[in-house]
Amino acid sequence: MKTSSFFGGVIGVALSFFHAIEAQDFATHGTYTHPDTGITFYTSSEANGTITGGGELSMVSWGGFTFGMALPPSALTVDTHEYIGLIIGSTPTGKGGWSGIVHGDKQSAAMPNHLMLLAWPTGVGDQIATSFRYSSAYQPPTAYKGSANLTQLYSQVNSTNWVLVYRCQNCFIFDDPSQSTFNTSTSQAKSILQGWAQSSVAPTDPKNPMSSFDQHNNGMGEFVVQVQSAMQASYAVWATKTATGPIATGTATATATFTPIPVPTATSYDYIVVGAGAGGIPMADKLSAAGKSVLLIEKGVASSARWGGTIRPENGWLDGQNLTWFDIPGECNRIWNGGTTGVACTDTDQMAGCILGGGTAVNAGLWWKPNPSDWDVNFPAGWKSSDMAAATKRVFSRIPGTDHPSMDGIRYLQDGFNVITTGLASANWTSVTANDVPEKKNRTYAHAPHMFSNGERGGPMATYLLSTSDRNNFHLWLNTSVEKINRVGGHATSLNVVPTNNGGRIGTVQLTPGTGRVVVSAGAFGTPKLLFRSGIGPADQLQVVQGTEGTTMINQSSWIHLPVGFGLSDHFNTDTVVSHPNVSYYDWPAAWLTPNETDRTNYITKRSGPLAQAAPNIGPIMWEEIKGPDGIVRHMQWQARVEGSNGIPNGNSMTLSLYLGRGEVSRGRATISKGLSMIVSELPYGDPNDLATVATAIDNMVNALKTIPNITWNLPPPGVSGADYLKTVDLTYANIGARRANHWMGTAKMGTDSALVGNGTSVVDTNCKVYGTDNIFVADASIFPGMVTTNPSALIVTASEHASDLILALPYPQTGHGGHHGGSEE
Ligand SMILES: Cc1cc2nc3c(=O)[nH]c(=O)nc-3n(C[C@H](O)[C@H](O)[C@H](O)COP(=O)(O)OP(=O)(O)OC[C@H]3O[C@@H](n4cnc5c(N)ncnc54)[C@H](O)[C@@H]3O)c2cc1C
Ligand code: HEM
Repeated sequence: MKTSSFFGGVIGVALSFFHAIEAQDFATHGTYTHPDTGITFYTSSEANGTITGGGELSMVSWGGFTFGMALPPSALTVDTHEYIGLIIGSTPTGKGGWSGIVHGDKQSAAMPNHLMLLAWPTGVGDQIATSFRYSSAYQPPTAYKGSANLTQLYSQVNSTNWVLVYRCQNCFIFDDPSQSTFNTSTSQAKSILQGWAQSSVAPTDPKNPMSSFDQHNNGMGEFVVQVQSAMQASYAVWATKTATGPIATGTATATATFTPIPVPTATSYDYIVVGAGAGGIPMADKLSAAGKSVLLIEKGVASSARWGGTIRPENGWLDGQNLTWFDIPGECNRIWNGGTTGVACTDTDQMAGCILGGGTAVNAGLWWKPNPSDWDVNFPAGWKSSDMAAATKRVFSRIPGTDHPSMDGIRYLQDGFNVITTGLASANWTSVTANDVPEKKNRTYAHAPHMFSNGERGGPMATYLLSTSDRNNFHLWLNTSVEKINRVGGHATSLNVVPTNNGGRIGTVQLTPGTGRVVVSAGAFGTPKLLFRSGIGPADQLQVVQGTEGTTMINQSSWIHLPVGFGLSDHFNTDTVVSHPNVSYYDWPAAWLTPNETDRTNYITKRSGPLAQAAPNIGPIMWEEIKGPDGIVRHMQWQARVEGSNGIPNGNSMTLSLYLGRGEVSRGRATISKGLSMIVSELPYGDPNDLATVATAIDNMVNALKTIPNITWNLPPPGVSGADYLKTVDLTYANIGARRANHWMGTAKMGTDSALVGNGTSVVDTNCKVYGTDNIFVADASIFPGMVTTNPSALIVTASEHASDLILALPYPQTGHGGHHGGSEE
């Protein structure tokens, strides 16, 4: 085994260095000639350094990481589909690890929907195992079955680093047969993005190139490769070199199979609710309380231990407790830090929980009594704040929420809150108890209220789901996905279901003939997906589904054309970062596997201490109303937490995330891919008046906090205006992770202007009924016509409470079974 210092080699012979090219490109770029093959690469290197937190958009990697690319000399004029690559990976513990490359395009090298190359030392001499994979979500990737082909040209391994030189043919083509094909053009873009990720933990079976492995823990990010700089005159000679070492490349693995339970025959339901999240659970409860037979279908597994959930920390600290990590407020960030498997949705490029409880099982539990203007400004008649008062009262009597969740009544880890609120108070902002005065959202601040109860997550799963499950007329199917709603014209008759896990159902489940109804509560991406697959949506989306499903899809003559997927909105996020000597970081990631012993004991025995609060020390929450240049008043919500971000390390830093809420005019679009995954194809951010108002909010906050002694503004740096700072934070799909709040809504918008008529824009009417149908309803985030002031889950539960009354009060169509036809107006 050779023992040269690989990184010393790269850095030592680099001919030239450029600084990071754009905000999220933290790599150092240069050129490097690999001594054994003589091949010269354009390199992108992450320095050796300690990873903090989840390693999001890391500036460093433990042991370092280098990727090199050589391209044919004609790459700028003729698209090349291949390159020669160099990976110098790290195994810093000496016990193996893996490294990965994401083949991006000119806009993005995000993990989902791009070709991934995985490589690691097998532990046998200089052997490196490689495999191609892809994933349509932030999930363990599956085998890639497209035409990419890798030839190893050189490999070398020592105890802490390894080198692989390889030819990658068809690697700029993404052509897995189940996915929409695209090519990355080297001639049209002067630069392309590549992603990288590393793990210091070896795959389960390092000798098997298709081994499973855990999520990266040693950095991840994206960098820009300049096509011109990577072009090499000798490319053709190098590309025909033959391998010099033992090779182990991967092959596709078999797909998982489940033992499904057939749908019972001769049974039908008055109501079938699709999706057990913030919208679906209260809906099922209210409908069953009215005596209707109700079936709630959820595609995920159980989350909370109360419902049979078993997903616990791997090292066993919760074993024997009637708790999973979903039940513990302090574990709420676990999902995005190594906990996605079997929890996060696999069919969207955004973050969402596909598990019992939906978003309410994985979120931070912030729980806001609705700001009345959110209803008054956004919603049509029948949904104004006065109409919503009764539903709000019912919701908050069942889930009051608390701003001091630890059962001993003490608020823990308050350094950050205390520092920031000193400044706000001297700037004459007002301290409020937010849910006592929900309308006071201008220059106010508060401790964050959460839906937690008895020191546990609580929320809809601990209230509405409990009461509904006590009734004999209620049925819950977990591990079961609704694939489509079968309908005759505008009338749904049955639903096709498939299992997603053992115990899931398979078959066609019937609605009560004539009077049965479907309520779709599958979330802002799940709902449009199900509508598309049921032939409801814009023609282009229905055609994509038809291309994949062929004649099993409802006949084109019955398609109902509505703008499903348009109207997408989300709180537009901009992170700012401050530091202060009084602020100290609590190591939440460590708490997931090995919590501080005192904190663990206090939580397990008394439901007290930091673990009874949401990670990472959330608060204060601050609000301001600002009129934009277009005269529209916009609501800003600032959410503070004790954690660094955007390259500022943890320690004494705080991230103040600024959410642009009600008044936001930007809208995006969610579309479906050939593989039937949902994608944010148009960002719901970026209207100039939105941006100008956000810039003012940043200036105002910098000004408000200026009296705090010893505060340091890291981002924006001192003297940089809000407007100039915003110009430095990318507003691209590649940077969506930093701009989204995961408060997606609006993809099946409510309104009185049916999109079936003239210039109408709405998908559902004010009874939540899909236009053109007589018994298909939507009750979840999708119906919201515009963004709200606060985090939305309590508003979604309230909307569902209200919707249940309207739906129950709605007379059945006189025509009964088959009464309406596709395309007719409702
Ligand atoms: C990481 C994160 C943190 C958040 N933090 C907060 C917070 O602190 N406070 C707050 O108010 N909001 C928060 N939110 C937002 C909030 O959780 C969501 O807005 C809310 O849960 C959306 O409710 P919903 O009913 O529309 O969808 P969801 O709650 O997502 O529920 C949809 C359900 O439908 C299921 N489903 C989808 N398709 C199908 C199908 N075909 N068949 C069967 N089942 C299906 C899904 O598995 C899921 O369980 C957060 C969201 C995320 C992702
Ligand atoms: C077990 C498998 C994996 C899981 C569960 C997983 C999960 C995630 C998550 C949750 C993020 C987002 C983090 C954030 O924005 O805060 C992320 C980002 C990223 N991942 Fe993975 N990942 C896995 C495997 C891989 C592999 C194999 C690669 C490369 C071959 C990779 C490359 C990336 C890159 C480049 C990013 C940053 C860009 C982006 O946000 O999309 N991941 N991953």
